[in-house]
Amino acid sequence: MNLSKRNSFRFTANNKLSMLMALASLGLIVSCSTSRKAHTEVKKSKGDMLPAVTEADAARGAEKFPGYTLAGLKQDMILYEQKCGACHDPKKPSMEPAEKWKGIVTEMVNKANNTYDKKISAAEQTAIMRYLTTMSTSKKK
Ligand code: HEC
Repeated sequence: MNLSKRNSFRFTANNKLSMLMALASLGLIVSCSTSRKAHTEVKKSKGDMLPAVTEADAARGAEKFPGYTLAGLKQDMILYEQKCGACHDPKKPSMEPAEKWKGIVTEMVNKANNTYDKKISAAEQTAIMRYLTTMSTSKKK
């Protein structure tokens, strides 16, 4: 009688332990899958906002920036996404004409350079303006 009571106690203790372990691993799985989901969503929303760059865009850009190529335009777009997407989603180039972008970029570069971890160099500013000037008149919005 005494022995069987002890056995049944052990049985329930084991049950509780495996329940706890099951709950703990469930929690792990849930938190892993939610963080992965959040990550892809952020990436998707940023990429979707900017129109794809084409040969026609690069050719139009080369009229103002001699020697501009599609590879160069793509590189500038990536820089734009990184630098001008650091605090908010990158704005669409078609949002403003090139003349307006010049003032906005100057203002935003000042803002970026006044925060300790989001600096934009003069060369990067030139590349960003090259991209925005070219893409502000893109047919694709
Ligand atoms: C250090 C953070 C930071 C960086 C980097 C940054 N911005 Fe901004 N930007 C802001 C903040 C904050 C606002 C909103 C307040 C304001 O207008 O000053 C804003 C607003 C804007 C707006 C106006 C938004 C609207 O819908 O009217 C534009 C356009 C813009 N940014 C473009 C840029 C561009 C282009 C770059 C890259 C050269 C850039 N931003 C980089 C912080 C940043």
